[in-house]
Amino acid sequence: MSEVLSLKYRPQRFSEVVGQDNTIKQIVSALQTDKLGHSLLFCGTRGSGKTTTARILAKALNCEKIVSGEPCGECTSCKSIEVGANLAVSEIDAASNTGVDNVREIIENIRYSVAGQHRVVILDEAHMLSKNAFNALLKTLEEPPSGVTFILLTTEPHKLIPTVLSRCQKYEFVDIDSATIKNTLLEIAQKENVNLSEEQANSLALKAEGSLRDALSVLQKSLSGDVSPDTANEYFTLVGAIYNRDAVTALDVVGAIRKSEEARTIIQTLEKWFYWCALETFGQKTPVRNYFPEGRTLAFDLTRLQSLFELCLDIERDFYATPNSKIVLDMGVIRLCL
Ligand SMILES: Nc1ncnc2c1ncn2[C@@H]1O[C@H](COP(=O)(O)OP(=O)(O)OP(=O)(O)O)[C@@H](O)[C@H]1O
Ligand SMILES: [Mg+2]
Ligand SMILES: [Zn+2]
Repeated sequence: MSEVLSLKYRPQRFSEVVGQDNTIKQIVSALQTDKLGHSLLFCGTRGSGKTTTARILAKALNCEKIVSGEPCGECTSCKSIEVGANLAVSEIDAASNTGVDNVREIIENIRYSVAGQHRVVILDEAHMLSKNAFNALLKTLEEPPSGVTFILLTTEPHKLIPTVLSRCQKYEFVDIDSATIKNTLLEIAQKENVNLSEEQANSLALKAEGSLRDALSVLQKSLSGDVSPDTANEYFTLVGAIYNRDAVTALDVVGAIRKSEEARTIIQTLEKWFYWCALETFGQKTPVRNYFPEGRTLAFDLTRLQSLFELCLDIERDFYATPNSKIVLDMGVIRLCL
């Protein structure tokens, strides 16, 4: 398996983008009813499908044989966009083109539209543009020349100036839920003819925290044998032991996890689990759910979770107090069990 999985399995059609059903529905419907804005903002979690969707949209806007909003993927236009050889579609990485001059160049460029083609400018990492660059772009975002669509992509929309935000049609890319990530991993593993158990897929999905790209890259690493062993089950036991104030079991499990993870990472991961347990109390689905029988409502004592969380933050600070991280970890775990 020499190819990079995330590239090999990059969706080519809207229907292949997973875990973003509402957003995709909105985009396709806007496209079909001609209500798509000239300036769009795709924001949300890293590795959740923003660039992928922007490219599909660029194809859809240019496709010669579009069917129910989906680009055909076969026409000259689709094919050239796929390989990045279509002059109508430009992708600019704002992180390395932050200045006013770069923006002026973009604006200058889109004036020369190619007949019969829909210009699409994909501005990746849009929050990295300088303030001046944004100001230079404002007028164009408000009223791009006809036949031009701007798609701004960002993981950090709060860093965009309000005047930019207000000029864009906004589409949110949410964290992909862990069940969807798990199923996608299982499907891809099957296509690749590799063994991946439900449990392994689950644990990878858990670590990916909403990013399918992260999940795929961990899967890739684990398939090439270059990965730490699966610890999600151990964390489940550990959290249970702490919750039940069973220090003996907790220390035991921590000892096992420590063979593959650093002491600080263990405390940070515990923070995350307590956080998830707290969210479960409000009915939100979190990765913790995977470890309980379906249909069961998970009610934890919120005060206890809060204090466990606070304690973890304390313990994290203790790592700076002494170079002996094993002592901090073990004493910390005992403290969590008190
Ligand atoms: N919603 C999704 N459905 C299917 N595959 C996805 C999805 N999100 C991410 N992927 C996979 O992860 C890869 C990277 O996704 P993409 O580049 O679209 O993420 P992104 O949101 O633009 O991330 P970043 O914020 O880091 O730029 C894709 O090639 C694909 O394999
Ligand atoms: Mg991207
Ligand atoms: Zn096409």
